[in-house]
Amino acid sequence: MSEIINVQNLVKKYDNNFTAVKNLNLKIRQGEIIALLGPNGAGKTTLISTICGLSSITSGIIKVNGLDVIKDYRKTRELIGLVPQELALEPFEKVINSVKFSRRLFGKKDDNEYIEKLLSKLQLYDKKNNIIKSLSGGMKRRVMIAKALSHDPQILFLDEPTAGVDVELRKDMWSIIKELKNEGVTIILTTHYIEEAEMIADRIGIINHGELLLIEEKRELIKRMSVKTLKVKLKKTLDIIPTKLKKYNLKLIDEGKSFLYYYNTGKERTGITSLLSDMNKIGINLFDIQTEETSLEEIFVKIIKD
Ligand SMILES: Nc1ncnc2c1ncn2[C@@H]1O[C@H](COP(=O)(O)OP(=O)(O)O)[C@@H](O)[C@H]1O
Ligand SMILES: [Mg+2]
Repeated sequence: MSEIINVQNLVKKYDNNFTAVKNLNLKIRQGEIIALLGPNGAGKTTLISTICGLSSITSGIIKVNGLDVIKDYRKTRELIGLVPQELALEPFEKVINSVKFSRRLFGKKDDNEYIEKLLSKLQLYDKKNNIIKSLSGGMKRRVMIAKALSHDPQILFLDEPTAGVDVELRKDMWSIIKELKNEGVTIILTTHYIEEAEMIADRIGIINHGELLLIEEKRELIKRMSVKTLKVKLKKTLDIIPTKLKKYNLKLIDEGKSFLYYYNTGKERTGITSLLSDMNKIGINLFDIQTEETSLEEIFVKIIKD
């Protein structure tokens, strides 16, 4: 997959000298869905604004499709559709006019066929002559997407697309996003819902205090999520892990009174049975065992804290 966005050493300082993005590097591949996960104030919206060329850059370079977002603002901006965090619609405008108007802002010729197809895809065709004020919350969100896609961009940014939205509507949004991906649109969404990232992203990036703490294939992250810890309390204290048990990568804790064994629930074998049997063979007796789960939520909280 080729790279469509390249953010290099991005720093964004606001006028009040607050640094909202600190030396951030990020490459986005064509056709993927990236979820940028992070708490409020992490810098997600700031990052998006700089990529879209809506906010100035303090230092660093951002390229979209190989072009500099500042030097080639018009060209790069045209490749991007942005659904902003705040609902921004003209309440008394008809749906179709509002979407057509967005397209004209990019200096593109009217294309009724494209717009009508877009409205059908977003299940807004029947409502095209309704005024926006009369639409439900879910439909309004779809109008925002239609406006963002009105000029047929290759990249779509969705800034917190489901914040404060009910479960039904959230699922609706997810299926729209997946469908757009199937059509080849590269999608970057921000969210503070872990579940959302888990449901639809190909890769997940975690942002906090203006830094990208990690970016990883979702599958890899899920694998890590399914790690469990087995804590074995021993009858007798151990000074070191016996050679026969080395292969289990045990971690001695509580001054040798217990050890930890990490295993992956995603695998066919956890290795617990053979560990216990090997312990038995060399005469190490256990006093008690307990297991602990590591969830994506915990991983997230831990990453953010560290
Ligand atoms: N125009 C601005 N001037 C000064 N600080 C700002 C401005 N916009 C955002 N910030 C600050 O930058 C940080 C990141 O904000 P933002 O990018 O909106 O975070 P997120 O979208 O992750 O919630 C926050 O601490 C916010 O208060
Ligand atoms: Mg934001």
